[in-house]
Amino acid sequence: MSNPIALAADHGGFELKEAVKQHLDAQGVAYVDFGTHSTDSVDYPDLAAAACRAVTDGQCRTALLFCGTGVGMSMAANRIPGIRACCCSDSFSCEYTRRHNDANALCLGGRVVGAGLACQLVDLFLATPFEGGRHQRRVDKLTALEQR
Ligand code: RB5
Repeated sequence: MSNPIALAADHGGFELKEAVKQHLDAQGVAYVDFGTHSTDSVDYPDLAAAACRAVTDGQCRTALLFCGTGVGMSMAANRIPGIRACCCSDSFSCEYTRRHNDANALCLGGRVVGAGLACQLVDLFLATPFEGGRHQRRVDKLTALEQR
């Protein structure tokens, strides 16, 4: 049994997070919800940090992050050492950020994508493996950039 997925949203992504939770529930996919739990205004870096640290600590295997655009969440997530986050609204980027970048956080915009597309992207992200090979060298160089 693999580790659960970490979920987090700000108020702009709250409703999309709830829709994705229903989708994950229907598939029996385990997750930990780091909030937020309402549409009251909150600061996306706080939520991103909580979910991403669960990934880098090994408690969770990957993160799904939601804000209005997905962009703020991706900016915050990519500041956490060990996180490779991608903001996606198309399937090609979503698939290849797993294949080539070994992305471990998918960021979605609640004001950008509908629940149907978001759930498709989540499924694709979770099902697509990292290809390794020459891409591992590049991912290693991303990690090295964190240390300078
Ligand atoms: C909140 O209004 C909005 O700024 C936030 O959800 C996100 O889109 C930031 O990138």
